[in-house]
Amino acid sequence: MIVAIDGPAGTGKGTIAGLISKRLGYTYIDTGAMYRCITLKMLNEGIAIDADISVIQDLLQRTKIEFININDKQRVFLDDEDVTEEIRTPKVNELVSPVSAIKEIRIKLVDMQRELGKASNVVMEGRDITTVVFPDAEVKIYLTADADERANRRYKELIEKGIETTYEETYESIRKRDENDMKKEMGALKVAEGAVVIDSTKMSIEEVYEKVVELIINTELDGTTDDEEITVNGSNDDALEEN
Ligand code: DC
Repeated sequence: MIVAIDGPAGTGKGTIAGLISKRLGYTYIDTGAMYRCITLKMLNEGIAIDADISVIQDLLQRTKIEFININDKQRVFLDDEDVTEEIRTPKVNELVSPVSAIKEIRIKLVDMQRELGKASNVVMEGRDITTVVFPDAEVKIYLTADADERANRRYKELIEKGIETTYEETYESIRKRDENDMKKEMGALKVAEGAVVIDSTKMSIEEVYEKVVELIINTELDGTTDDEEITVNGSNDDALEEN
């Protein structure tokens, strides 16, 4: 079974995928982390966004990305080095969307993602999983939330981590990334045919999780998901992580 989740930044895709992995034993693939790894490597090697395609191809050929569970937490390894924290720094945030618009990078990562999807039960989240990577996934979800709410969640999270920023800066960074992600020539963020839209603006993590589990169970029972837009007026006390 493949559970594919797409949506803009700050909707809680990663948190939900993490819960599905932990509680249902699914293999969790955070595809945004893969684009972040390539961005970090380009920064480390001083490779510019408009570098010659042969330079980018060469970089891709000598890149290894792995997800490894350590003490029940998923860690991201780039060329055998743990970069879980480093790929979430502002310098990577700034560049990752334009990097992810480079076609050669998308082709390579989509290939890797399809390979990773061969594991038995997989939950994969990103921007083009329901549209490009696995358009035939058994469960397809588009998770969304109001931009204000997403910026709020992200801002709280950054402050808790001790990262200095303002709400305005956080909002602007999310807005810019959404805009880039939606207008990409290849793999643009959009609602896939047959995807269930969940608006998490007023939902807690548990409410979103319950909804997704319901979809998984219904699919297991009858092999279909119903198209529907779900907006539940619940509490939003639980900050959803940006992913
Ligand atoms: O999910 P995230 O915020 O970590 O993703 C980082 C960036 O990578 C985001 O700006 C869009 C891009 N991305 C993509 O283009 N396709 C994916 N499947 C996942 C992420």
